[in-house]
Amino acid sequence: MNPRDTPTIGVFDSGVGGLTILSELQSRLPHARFVYAADNAHFPYGTRSPAEVTKWTLATVGQMLATVPVDVIVVACNTASTAALPALRQKFGIPVVGVVPAVKPAAAGTKSGVVGLLATSATVTRPYTDELIDQHARHVTVLKVGSKLLVDLAEAKLRGESVVIEQVRQEIAPFFAYKHRSSEFGAEPNSVDTIVLGCTHFPLLLDELKQAAQWPVTWLDSGSAVAQRTAAVLGERGIQTDSGNVSRVVRGAENICFFTSVSDAMGASSVTNLLPVLAQYDLLQVSHLPLPMDV
Ligand code: DGL
Repeated sequence: MNPRDTPTIGVFDSGVGGLTILSELQSRLPHARFVYAADNAHFPYGTRSPAEVTKWTLATVGQMLATVPVDVIVVACNTASTAALPALRQKFGIPVVGVVPAVKPAAAGTKSGVVGLLATSATVTRPYTDELIDQHARHVTVLKVGSKLLVDLAEAKLRGESVVIEQVRQEIAPFFAYKHRSSEFGAEPNSVDTIVLGCTHFPLLLDELKQAAQWPVTWLDSGSAVAQRTAAVLGERGIQTDSGNVSRVVRGAENICFFTSVSDAMGASSVTNLLPVLAQYDLLQVSHLPLPMDV
């Protein structure tokens, strides 16, 4: 039997950060149909408790699945992945792929032995992240910085607003200040040389981050690893993962983008302002996904 041609992939985030994962999925699986769900009613997740994040993630993914069945759910949000993966796997009978900050490749590749982890406040303080560092990066120094401002700036950028580089510079300054605190090691060799983008919003600011950095560093995100993992999961379920072998490629009008609020904290026009960017990601059908009243 030939593998089934067209997978449907559900992608979830609190906002637009998951678009950075979506674009990697679209490169790896260009024949797939995508359903993107943003829980903008509760954005940002990065300052909320694990219990709240889990409740909202379950509710949004549940409503998405009730509206459009998918073959795999990609939790394109580090904050939600650190809190809600076990609950999602328990509740829904389909595979769930989460995002893990690229700490392992960063620890393997650093020359100076100093790695930065830039994520939300929630992600940098979760036991999940400490376990990840303990498992893969015990031999290096990991500097953790949590930022809500950068999440907001990424959202604003996609709505067409300009980003002030000085604000970005201040957020990432702790990474570059580290060499002054480690005088016993001397200067350059013990400065940060690799920064992990442990929030899916941050690759949207890569140009600004590079401009704001005090010296060039390697920036690592998890997008392509998530896309590879998603393809492997689909392959295990007998779904075609080689776009060269398919007879039908999905067009943008078949993709759907859901928002849990049409008038979120950014204002009533915020979803409208995103439409041009969503079209660039081939998301041409944009709809409201109301959550149950008790969520
Ligand atoms: N994009 C999300 C992440 O990867 C979180 C942004 C937020 O809602 O704070 O962590």
